[in-house]
Amino acid sequence: MEWTTHERYRPYSEMTIEQEEVLIQSIANCPWRQNYHIQPTTGLLNDPNGFSYFNGEYHLFYQWFPYGAVHGLKHWYHTSSTDLVNWKNKGVGLEPSLPFESHGAFSGSGIVKDDKLFLFYTGNVRDENWDRESYQCLAVMGKDNRIEKHSKPIIATIPDGYTAHFRDPKVWEQNGYYYAVLGAQRTNETGCVLLYRSNNLYEWKLLGEVKTSYTELGFMWECPDYFEIDDKGILLFCPQGLAPKGENYQNIYQSGYLLGDKLNVEDRTMQHDEFVELDAGFDFYAPQTTQAPDGRRILVGWMGLPEIPYPSDRNNWAHCLTIPRELTIKENRIYQQPVQELKKLRKQAIAIESTLSDESKAFEGVNGTSYEMECEFTMLTASRAGVKLRTGKDEETVFYYDQDKKEIVFDRGKSGESVAEDYGTKRVKSYRCALLKLQIFVDTSSVEIFVNEGEYVFTARIFPSADSQGVQFFSVDGDVELKATKWDLS
Ligand code: FRU
Repeated sequence: MEWTTHERYRPYSEMTIEQEEVLIQSIANCPWRQNYHIQPTTGLLNDPNGFSYFNGEYHLFYQWFPYGAVHGLKHWYHTSSTDLVNWKNKGVGLEPSLPFESHGAFSGSGIVKDDKLFLFYTGNVRDENWDRESYQCLAVMGKDNRIEKHSKPIIATIPDGYTAHFRDPKVWEQNGYYYAVLGAQRTNETGCVLLYRSNNLYEWKLLGEVKTSYTELGFMWECPDYFEIDDKGILLFCPQGLAPKGENYQNIYQSGYLLGDKLNVEDRTMQHDEFVELDAGFDFYAPQTTQAPDGRRILVGWMGLPEIPYPSDRNNWAHCLTIPRELTIKENRIYQQPVQELKKLRKQAIAIESTLSDESKAFEGVNGTSYEMECEFTMLTASRAGVKLRTGKDEETVFYYDQDKKEIVFDRGKSGESVAEDYGTKRVKSYRCALLKLQIFVDTSSVEIFVNEGEYVFTARIFPSADSQGVQFFSVDGDVELKATKWDLS
């Protein structure tokens, strides 16, 4: 479908009941609707926004264009949950209506103060020549979940030296001040993060750039986040424009972190290790974190990428969010594990144990389209061992350890309808282990695989046929010992 500018920049409030019904009908005919992931009721979802714990609940918004699977006028859609597992759709959170957000309420974050949730976002504006303008905006949500926009931007100008690619405020509190990081582009078209400070959340002062050792890492850094775990500082961001490098940077845009000493907010320095990608799979971008009431740092990402068509587009919807992941630090790296709360979704369990000798094996009851599975492969003599998910006629999604090459391989080349094939259908990580432990979450059109307690995560959307429901475990050229437990998820 070709979209006119008018169609693409319509607010949700102008959608007629008939239009909505047509959309809902075409989505109902889609074989790839998810079962336990946050997905849009209609249209396109992208970045998670405003993730916070407020008034006894988690609030998680997302970037939303209601009319179809294109990046049109972005709204914030509101969801909430008491347990990070069961999410309620709460309707539109922010709909653009003011001149300084005329072409979209872009990404941002939330912070609680005085029994209110302060939501910071970017007002995206296109002028009559379609040139971009960016305004940093504020809206305040009360305990009744009603959101009121502040009448003017809280940061109305783009600092000298930077272009209008200036967005995605992430706010936190530290020593009696509020700080915000913003994604920015220098006028020489390199990406960076800008740091602001406020003492009341309304008036903000530019402190300057966060000084990392990366002065030329891509043309724009989107969706920054800063937080601390165990006395370490972590700066997340999404650099755009990195060329593939060995097994890294395989997707259209990247998403990763710098881990090091805490950010020094006075001189804006941060000593850090090298940039590390957060996800080793295919569809992952624009993650955002929040702190749970018990102190855990929880991350949710967009399970999709910009500028890539997906098969569900035909049914007028696109994308979902990842399951929430708990972040910890081990050996100077971020480990990511599915939050404990997800165990609530587990229905009956099936456990298996077997030694595989150069063979492929299926087990009674171990199959489906929506399940969690824990597997342990004790590598004996096999040169390769792993698991094939969503197998069916000519279809399989394959994950294995190659003991000869010392690498993990994730292959969606035969997963069903293809996505972003130009960017390759395999993802590989050099790896050494004698015991490979996987925690796998399969939903109707996605796979999230956590390796060895979260050392790596491989995330992918897949678009298999509905009857590709098999699971096969395999070993090649030798033996592997297998233990697995599978739970259907409700
Ligand atoms: C990242 C991003 C953000 C922007 C939003 C617009 O995916 O481009 O930088 O705020 O999406 O939807």
